[in-house]
Order: sequence, then C-alpha cells, then structure tokens
Amino acid sequence: MSVAIGDRLALHGGPPAVTLDQTEALRWPIVEREEIDAVTAVATSGQWSLSPVSAAFEEEFAAYHGVRYAVAHTNGTAALHAAFFALGLGPGDEVIAPSATYWATAMPVLAVGAIPVFADIDSATMNIDPADIARRISPRTRAIVAMHGGGMPCEMDPIMDLARRHGLKVVEDASHAHGARYKGRRTGTFGDVAAFSLQTSKLCPSGEGGVLITNNQEYFERTILLGHYERIGTLPTEANQRFQHTSYGFKYRISPFSAALGRVALAKLDARNQRRNDNIRYVLERLDQLPGLQAPVLPPYIERVYYGQPRVIYDATALGGLPVDRFVEALKREGARVSGGTTLRHRGGLHTQPVFTERAHPAFHHPANAESMARVRYGPGTLPVTEAPPRNRINLPTFPRADRDLLDQYVEAFRKVARHADDLH
Ligand SMILES: Cc1ncc(COP(=O)(O)O)c(C=O)c1O
Repeated sequence: MSVAIGDRLALHGGPPAVTLDQTEALRWPIVEREEIDAVTAVATSGQWSLSPVSAAFEEEFAAYHGVRYAVAHTNGTAALHAAFFALGLGPGDEVIAPSATYWATAMPVLAVGAIPVFADIDSATMNIDPADIARRISPRTRAIVAMHGGGMPCEMDPIMDLARRHGLKVVEDASHAHGARYKGRRTGTFGDVAAFSLQTSKLCPSGEGGVLITNNQEYFERTILLGHYERIGTLPTEANQRFQHTSYGFKYRISPFSAALGRVALAKLDARNQRRNDNIRYVLERLDQLPGLQAPVLPPYIERVYYGQPRVIYDATALGGLPVDRFVEALKREGARVSGGTTLRHRGGLHTQPVFTERAHPAFHHPANAESMARVRYGPGTLPVTEAPPRNRINLPTFPRADRDLLDQYVEAFRKVARHADDLH
C-alpha cells in the first residue's frame, strides 16, 4: 500500500512525528530563581557546615508529612543506615526487603550486621509482594522494608497487618515517592521509620541529601547518636548526651547548600508532581485507546507519583504479531524518547549480585547469623518475578515540564506506528 509522504514512518524515510525540542520539557532538576537565590544565600552567609537552613528544612519536611521528627542526612543511603540502626537491628536479626530496588534499600541492613532476606515483587505493582513477605518470615525476622518503587505506593495495609501480627518493625524507603499517598495518607508515614533520598534525579531533589522521619523519640535519638554528634548534647534523654564527643562513628549531617535546595524543592513538590501526573495521565489515557497498548490501571485508593515507570503494556497479538522491539524502534525513529522491549537492561535483582551470592560481606560470617545463613538462599531461581525480564513494556519519559504540544506529538508518534504496524514486519 502506498502512503502519502507525510504519513510515512520515519523509519521508512517519512518526517518524524516528534519535532519539538524536548530538552527543556524533559529537563530535571528544574532550576529557577528560587533555587539560585537559596544557594546564593547560603554561600554569602558563610555558614557552609552548620546553618539554621538545615533545621528549617527539617521542620518543613516534618510538617509536610505530619510527623514529629525529620533528620536531614548527607544522602538517602545514610538515612537508611540510620533507620536500621535506630530500630536497634544487629547480628542475629533478619530484615525482609525487596530485591528489585537500588542497593541502598538493603545494603545498610548488612552495615548494622543483620541479614537481608529478599521477598519477590508483585508483577502488577512491581513492589514487594505482601504474600511473599509472609512466606519469608522466620523467628529471626525483625523488620520489613517497603520501597515504593518509581513512586507507586506499596500495599501498606497488608504489610502493616503482617507487621502487627508478627511484632515486626516497618521501614519505608520512600526515595521514589515524595508526595504520594496510599488511602489518603502520605508514603513515609506508615512505618516506624522512613527514609527519603534527595539525590538530583529524585522528585524532591537537593543534589545530595536524605531525610529520616519518625514519630518515635527513641528512634529519633538513636538516629542522632549514629551520625549527628553536634546535636547529641541537646538530646532529651540525658544519658544519651555522654556520647556527644564520639557519636557512634558516622557524620551524616546534610550540607546547608543541599538543605537550602531541599527547602525549595519541598515547597514546589506538590505542584511539580501535579504537572508530571497531569502530563503522564494525558498521554497514557490516549495510548490506552490504541490497539495493542494498555495503560496500567491504578486502584482508586492509590495516588501515585512518577519518579519513573510511566509505561504501557504492549500486546503484539493486537498488532498482527509485530514484535515489541520493532514497535519501539519505529517510535524512536519518530523522535519519541521511549525504551522497552526485550533489549532493556535487566539486572535481575540485588540477590543475584556477588556480595550476596559470594557472601562477601562480613555480616554473613558473624556467628549470630549462622542459623540464618544455613537457611536463607540468594542467587538466581529464588525470586521468579524479580528475575523475569520485563519483555512487553514500553517506557515513556516523565514529562516534568512538557506542554500539550509535545504530548500530542508523542501520542501521534504512537498512533502513527500503530497505524503502520503492517508495514513493519
Ligand atoms: C530506592 C532507593 N533507595 C535509596 C536510595 C539512596 O539514596 P541516595 O542516592 O541519596 O544515597 C536510592 C537512590 O539513589 C533509591 O533509588
């Protein structure tokens, strides 16, 4: 069939569907006047280590989440280390965590001497599967880590229910989910402790930075004891003050430059999340109408945000068996910054990494962990959903600052490729 030149696929020499400049529309972090002024104010103050800006950021972060304590850290990894330390975890303890995550969700468990036990994810949410958590609970289990992947809240009701029934603590890794809600309540406010990363790519970026939040005074004090020696002398529990000249060995306070950027990011968080969400919803609703493409359906009680994961599921059978890779290739040639298909890099989970398969961390060899190590399995074959490479997804940008015109061009790119599916075999 001959097609008008304007409608020809870019792959076949036609004009691409996406022609607008995408640099600004997709740029992150966003730098506006407030970001520059905030950093300049710290610079000119000369207070580059200890600054009232850091305390102000903590107060605002705590108020946003409606919690008693927020402690800003050098990064999210430090905040997670502090979370496990705050709970008093150590050798002989097991912590159930997802494996399909950035390493900092689980590695600080080893840093306190405890053992991560990985649970599989639910293929619909890509978050830790409560049913698999239940299967992994042992007499040594002390805590569960819920990581809200890509901004999608975990199923917190069954997780909190399991925790209550088994007397376990819950740590939320909310590094991807600033501002998301589950059943009306913000992620980070369900568990005993939550940690957030503020690294540059995150929804509330400060450059490098992290925050631990909790309502529990003991956990707050232990957080300060671990890595904030300059504040130990002010702790309400006088006995703790004797550690003020040493701390417990770490120095985790946030840089005031980061705190200043974090304050601006927090003030703009809801508006910026809203813009991403509106843009993504606009595109997904339209792609869902096309043959072979399906947008994920969210339960009504989930108000997710998009650190990542805007995607459609591809069904080749609705497009005459056209392989997903070919569809993605054609989209890319149309100028759409998409990824997906079978060529997507898939690392297969933390549990397949050498530090676990070779038991390369000293915590694995602590005598108190011997019983756990005789039972806990790592390596391929232990977490089927986590290990399965996603084959049928097409990932989209998060469109942080895109206008309708660009979104319409993306939709048109998909429409065009779907319309020409027969020419692509
Ligand atoms: C899920 C998750 N947890 C923790 C972290 C660690 O945070 P940071 O990089 O600020 O140390 C990150 C990312 O960086 C992350 O993606």
